[in-house]
Amino acid sequence: MMDSLLSWLFSSEKEELYILDCMAYLMFLMAACTYVTLLFENVPYGRYATSKYGFPVNVRFAWFVQELPAFMVPLCLVLWTSSAKTSLLPNQLLIVMYFCHYVHRKNGGQKKNIQGSVLWLVGWLVNMHSDHILRNLRKPGETGYKIPTGGMFEYVSGANFLGEITEWAGFALAGHSVHSSAFAIFTTVVLASRAVAHHKWYLAKFEDYPKSRKALIPFVF
Ligand SMILES: NC(=O)c1ccc[n+]([C@@H]2O[C@H](COP(=O)([O-])OP(=O)(O)OC[C@H]3O[C@@H](n4cnc5c(N)ncnc54)[C@H](OP(=O)(O)O)[C@@H]3O)[C@@H](O)[C@H]2O)c1
Repeated sequence: MMDSLLSWLFSSEKEELYILDCMAYLMFLMAACTYVTLLFENVPYGRYATSKYGFPVNVRFAWFVQELPAFMVPLCLVLWTSSAKTSLLPNQLLIVMYFCHYVHRKNGGQKKNIQGSVLWLVGWLVNMHSDHILRNLRKPGETGYKIPTGGMFEYVSGANFLGEITEWAGFALAGHSVHSSAFAIFTTVVLASRAVAHHKWYLAKFEDYPKSRKALIPFVF
């Protein structure tokens, strides 16, 4: 069924690649637009929540609905297409990296593939560890915000975002394609802005916030 859907969507592999390229370039454009928008407005969630854009939605439900296609579409393609691409080891590694990220919540140069995979793994561990720290800051029933400590939070306010940006940078290095690069750049734009916003918010909210802590890049930014 997936095979017939794919052959209905794309008449040839060349056309499939052309559409993927177009989508990647569109993502670069979206990253630029998002970057400009985020200079003027914080994403209205969590501590920045506002009813300006409509009624509030349950966070878990919204997250689930938003992420579902990003998980289900690749899963269906892997499970129910006979594409030879998924039988190649470098591609399998990329697929494992991708799904590992979503469970937590091609071909090319082998060196880049290994370096990228290592970078991805480091980022994944930092992201998971940092999210774990954040989610355990509140005792049951508490609702406020506290200063996060431990792990990469000793160096940056956006440790979970740094982890995720590193993950997708590693993924882009391993995949070394315009498509994985578009994804990494879009993620960087979105998450770097969150890290900067959180950092400014912490500095304004907590007088005793560690002054040496940076927003996203240890010792630098
Ligand atoms: N790939 C992408 O494009 C993308 C986009 C967005 C997010 N993400 C990933 O999704 C994960 C969560 O992102 P997020 O923006 O929701 O992260 P976040 O703002 O840091 O919040 C994560 C969780 O920790 C809580 N929290 C954060 N800071 C806290 C503090 N100082 N004291 C107490 N609780 C605190 C938040 O509560 P509240 O909800 O009450 O604030 C929320 O439940 C991250 O790993 C991020 O990298 C990825």
